[in-house]
Amino acid sequence: MADENNPNGKNGNKVGVLEKVTTGVKEDIQALKTDIPTKAKEQIEGLKDPTKTQVYTSIFRHKHDDTPRNRALGVLSNVFLHLHPAKINRDAVRYSYTWGMGGITFYLFIILTYTGVLLMFYYHPSKVQAFRDVLYLEHDVPFGKILRNMHRWAAHLMVIGVWLHMFRVFLTGSYKKPREFNWNIGVLLLVFTLLLSFTGYLLPDDQLGFWAVTVGTNMARATPLLGHEGPFGSMLGMTPYNDVRFGLLGGSIVDANALLRSYIWHCIGIPIVASILMIVHFWRVRKDGGISGPAPVMLEAEADKPRRGPKAAGE
Ligand code: HEM
Repeated sequence: MADENNPNGKNGNKVGVLEKVTTGVKEDIQALKTDIPTKAKEQIEGLKDPTKTQVYTSIFRHKHDDTPRNRALGVLSNVFLHLHPAKINRDAVRYSYTWGMGGITFYLFIILTYTGVLLMFYYHPSKVQAFRDVLYLEHDVPFGKILRNMHRWAAHLMVIGVWLHMFRVFLTGSYKKPREFNWNIGVLLLVFTLLLSFTGYLLPDDQLGFWAVTVGTNMARATPLLGHEGPFGSMLGMTPYNDVRFGLLGGSIVDANALLRSYIWHCIGIPIVASILMIVHFWRVRKDGGISGPAPVMLEAEADKPRRGPKAAGE
């Protein structure tokens, strides 16, 4: 008969394993007894300071201390903020320098896109429905009046904003080298902003829009080469039924086709082109060395320190 305590025997092996398991389990229980309260304490502490929770650290991968390095990391590790440079010329972003007009214009474009999509839920681009939809929006749709007015006012403000932005860029001489290309992108943006405004004007299909578009597109008759009343137009075979005005209106009068064309240009064609141009415009601002500005880059921490150089010596 085999000795039960014999470690080399069959039963002895079983006992040895059993002992090991029991000891292991005991150790684990002991460890848990100390670990659980410690971890629970850490979690509770973490709730007091959310920046120490795992959820927070899984999203924000940098420390929160207010140091120049952490500030830069904060910008670089955020998908939206990294579109901005980590460090900028402080004087260049003063409102007194930029008037904030480029940013405001972009902000208005976002409002217009958002309210425009909501308006599309209620609007049909047909002669029967269009004006009725506007009346319905004004009088029956909850918040319809404010929605429509937000879109309309933001459109007027965007046109004003884009002109003011261009004026400021002109006044600060920011169209000069190396920003000539971005000035040209800007000119296209101005044209597309005005076209957005113009195509939107017809959509309510009211008297104001109808006559504005009638007058506006009548000017297209006189386009050189492409208008039937313009210079060299007739020589190129332009008639009221094949010239540029005909192309714009989808016919020779402002009617259902003109409404549909305005709608498609206004809601799809022009916003897509304008968005692409804006992306290029913002990218170029970065590539051209950031917003043109009057002073060199200086950290806030450095701003309090005494300045070096001849001017500082004289101070
Ligand atoms: C939809 C229209 C436009 C938007 C959203 C827009 C947006 C911006 C923004 C956000 C900036 C950064 C500086 C600032 O805010 O002033 C900027 C800079 C600039 N924009 Fe525009 N812009 C538009 C139209 C124009 C137009 C019409 C022009 C000129 C014809 C123009 C020319 C420039 C130039 C040259 C810069 C660089 C300025 C500098 O470095 O100081 N932009 N734009």
